[in-house]
Amino acid sequence: MREREREMASLNDVSTKGKVINCNAAVVWGPGKPFVIEEIQVEPPQNMEVRVKILYTSICHTDLNAWKGENESQQAFPRVLGHEAAGIIESVGEGVLDMKEGDHVVPIFNGECGDCVYCTSEKTNLCEKFRVNPMKSVMFNDGKTRFSTLDRKPIYHFLNTSTFSEYTVLDSGCVVKIDSKASLKKMSLLSCCISTGLGAVWNTANVQGGSTLAIFGLGAVGLAVAEGARSRGASRIIGVDINPEKFIKGRAMGITDFINPKDLEIYVHEKIWEMTEGGVDYSFECAGNLDVLREAFLSTHDGWGLTVILGIHPSPRMLPLHPMELFDGRRLTGTVFGDFKGKSQLPNLALQCMNGASISRLVNLDEFITHELPFSKINEAFKLLTNGESLRCLLHL
Ligand SMILES: NC(=O)c1ccc[n+]([C@@H]2O[C@H](COP(=O)([O-])OP(=O)(O)OC[C@H]3O[C@@H](n4cnc5c(N)ncnc54)[C@H](O)[C@@H]3O)[C@@H](O)[C@H]2O)c1
Ligand SMILES: [Zn+2]
Ligand SMILES: [Zn+2]
Repeated sequence: MREREREMASLNDVSTKGKVINCNAAVVWGPGKPFVIEEIQVEPPQNMEVRVKILYTSICHTDLNAWKGENESQQAFPRVLGHEAAGIIESVGEGVLDMKEGDHVVPIFNGECGDCVYCTSEKTNLCEKFRVNPMKSVMFNDGKTRFSTLDRKPIYHFLNTSTFSEYTVLDSGCVVKIDSKASLKKMSLLSCCISTGLGAVWNTANVQGGSTLAIFGLGAVGLAVAEGARSRGASRIIGVDINPEKFIKGRAMGITDFINPKDLEIYVHEKIWEMTEGGVDYSFECAGNLDVLREAFLSTHDGWGLTVILGIHPSPRMLPLHPMELFDGRRLTGTVFGDFKGKSQLPNLALQCMNGASISRLVNLDEFITHELPFSKINEAFKLLTNGESLRCLLHL
């Protein structure tokens, strides 16, 4: 079925509002165990919550970390993972005024309540209630789950979102309404990789035209950084990855030079110093590896270099830096969701993406969806990401 028809036909004729819905979800029962597509129960949304029919979802490396359970303290099973998605509101709970049944939405793992001391500050996109929290596995309202097995055992939530399910319940602060004319397929990318990568360049680093930069890790997040840098008129974009296949896509996204650390006999940062007379202006760590982070840090120019950490580091190890190294003038910061305030700023980003001409020259969203599969093939989609074959594999629910 064509995308538009699927969206129109997606909601049931008979209202399910206020009722428990039985539907299929991909449940993980333990670290690294295959996803089991099984029937689960999804409760109606409570106060300030919404229930969303997910139409498209894809897999980000952060799902991979949680699935492997690399950080033991964050494990919670059985669980519904997934955070990059798009769908349609099935019903809203009491008090939700900004969304209604039938609205097109994308979930955001880093929510925005709009009222707290963080949300009312221009200095951060973290929210007191709904900021990204890998330890959280239950709903904010009552500390319970809205998912359960058919024999009523709880199934845990993930990253404020849990999109590997035909229906999911989210806090309304973690859902953004977007224009119904936008392609939901493409909009799903805004719910993580594209916003994170573009925002890291536009908001966190505020890269200026003519700058040089290096991107470590050329998955969807790293390539979204490349798109952001190209759109800002960066003069040189160096891509670093141990998988040379990524260079093919990278070239299309404006990366000018490539380094495969495996081909070098010197450190990557030494190579970058050679190529740029002392280092790049900015570096972006998108691999989630501490050794890579050190290389990214040293690859910037002393005096003014800025490194932005995007990668999620499941290792309990601390930063691989000596404090005195900061006296060389290199700075380091992290970014969650590219410093976008999701509820306030995503609708506009979505509009820009829709208005083809202007922004599609800036961001080639189509290039990021390298594979599409039915939801039932989620294990295959995970393999594609683990093997470095896909950027985003879009699952159709
Ligand atoms: N900060 C945020 O808000 C945020 C949002 C989304 C994703 N993330 C994180 O960003 C990272 C990237 O996500 P993704 O979905 O693009 O992942 P991905 O798996 O698609 O890409 C990671 C890339 O890093 C490369 N890589 C691995 N080891 C490397 C090394 N030693 N040197 C150079 N390159 C190496 C891989 O070959 C791959 O191309 C992950 O850690 C993910 O958890 C963070
Ligand atoms: Zn993600
Ligand atoms: Zn808030």
